[in-house]
Amino acid sequence: MTPLHCNKQGKVALITGAAQGIGRAFAERLAAEGATVVGVDRQDIQGFETALKDLGAGDAHYARVDVTDEAAVEALAAQVLDRFGRCDILINNVGFTPREPLEQITLAQWRLVMAVNVESFFLTCRAFVPAMKSNAYGRIVNISSDTVGLVIDGFAHYIASKGAVIGLTRALASELGECGITVNSIAPGLTKTPNTFSMFPDGKMFDLSAQAQAIKRPSTPGDLVGAMSFLTSDDAAFLTGQTLIMNGGQLRAL
Ligand SMILES: NC(=O)c1ccc[n+]([C@@H]2O[C@H](COP(=O)([O-])OP(=O)(O)OC[C@H]3O[C@@H](n4cnc5c(N)ncnc54)[C@H](O)[C@@H]3O)[C@@H](O)[C@H]2O)c1
Repeated sequence: MTPLHCNKQGKVALITGAAQGIGRAFAERLAAEGATVVGVDRQDIQGFETALKDLGAGDAHYARVDVTDEAAVEALAAQVLDRFGRCDILINNVGFTPREPLEQITLAQWRLVMAVNVESFFLTCRAFVPAMKSNAYGRIVNISSDTVGLVIDGFAHYIASKGAVIGLTRALASELGECGITVNSIAPGLTKTPNTFSMFPDGKMFDLSAQAQAIKRPSTPGDLVGAMSFLTSDDAAFLTGQTLIMNGGQLRAL
């Protein structure tokens, strides 16, 4: 028998940054659980809808949208609600991870990191929460990062943005708790994705990171899907405002 929390039939789930990496794994897991899945990304990719329907999605839709664009996010919400009538699950997953020391961060770069990593989360929440409120049901998961709690150099803008994600999560959890909407965060550790492979092409950083973890193997997006599945389930109705640190138990610096 399928565990109750793995049944998402009848639910509509929207995932930002769904073209690859962690977002794609989340989209595929929700499809396998029977949800109707809306994948959103600024990349143009082929075959998303067919692949997700083959996995078991009730329906699937891919929208090419830059989620930092306020008007585009509003239009996306109108389109999704017109076509599917509801949005039960919102996963804010887009992220941008430049690495540069403080003195080299331009104001434009700082603002871009904030726009992608935090502002877009605000825009999607504002656009989809009214529909969740009218159904008295919603599950929002915001992707932060375990770097917020580590000693790590060269990511001041990124880490500041991921701290803001945790603050936004707690603030919205408080504001929306009475409306049947939970808001939680997942803070992954270093995880093998196209993004991190481009940052660490020789792969050594994954093994180094694994050695600092209680579970001594590199993380893949598949290690994160179980937490996402639970947080977006009916079973998680009393869990809100929390951040799950999913880094294999990294308890010391590298
Ligand atoms: N991979 C890791 O080690 C790791 C660790 C901690 C946190 N995270 C966080 O997890 C999330 C996913 O990470 P990932 O490694 O899978 O990243 P990724 O770069 O592989 O995928 C991110 C996706 O977001 C899309 N995207 C970026 N900006 C966008 C925009 N403005 N509008 C629409 N789409 C946009 C990209 O096209 C891409 O498909 C990010 O928020 C990241 O900060 C990742």
